[in-house]
Amino acid sequence: MRIVKLYTTDSTNDYLKSLAKEESLEEDTVVWALEQTNGRGQMGTKWSTEPNKNLTFSVFRKIQQVTINQQFYPLMAASLAVKDVLKKLLIKDVRVKWPNDILSDKQKICGILIENVIKKGELNAMVIGVGLNVNQTEWKDLTRVTSIKSQTGIHFDLQEILNMLLEQFHYYVKMLLDGNLEAIKKNYEEHLFRKDKPSTFLRSNQEQFVGIIQGVTDQGKLILLEEDNIINEYDLKELELLF
Ligand code: BTN
Repeated sequence: MRIVKLYTTDSTNDYLKSLAKEESLEEDTVVWALEQTNGRGQMGTKWSTEPNKNLTFSVFRKIQQVTINQQFYPLMAASLAVKDVLKKLLIKDVRVKWPNDILSDKQKICGILIENVIKKGELNAMVIGVGLNVNQTEWKDLTRVTSIKSQTGIHFDLQEILNMLLEQFHYYVKMLLDGNLEAIKKNYEEHLFRKDKPSTFLRSNQEQFVGIIQGVTDQGKLILLEEDNIINEYDLKELELLF
């Protein structure tokens, strides 16, 4: 596996996407930066963390093995890999908050951003970007954020955690390639934050409502049970979980 380690870059997702446009990348090429100057999160948000203290990296995956109907599986694989590693490190109450956050003790410890690589006008590959809070213990202007060090009191070696994450990610990718999709989704749903509990959501038109998370679709929509036993499916732009 090729790991490109950078001291600084704007965003590892952007770096890997441009690399993929310039050259034919081997599967699982990883770009890891100790500092990002323009780290990006879901829905146009920023991902800013202190340099040298956290993991910010992106993995390149060809799209051919993943059908349109299985689009959400690489994200589930990445989320489960992070969840497993955090559990191995004895981080408490690790949950996956749909679609792309990992929480410990109801606080965000990791975010994942998956982006498509378009080559010659066609969907070619995916870039899976992971921001995991490792040794940072203070955040300006952010609440409900945590890190491995905040949870354990232990300072960790970034390379060691990266190796653990990549190994675990490969384990799930193999499951995915072997067609073991049900087991991946079952595992993801078992660790889904607030599954089977009445929760308050905010629609994009600012209306609040109560729903109970039932699971996710293969394309990544959240399945909610609502008033009058109605089941609805939502994508990320359509609602926010208030907690
Ligand atoms: C989110 O929680 O909104 C997703 C955050 C994803 C952050 C990672 S850090 C590495 C990669 N490069 C980026 O610019 N973003 C992702």
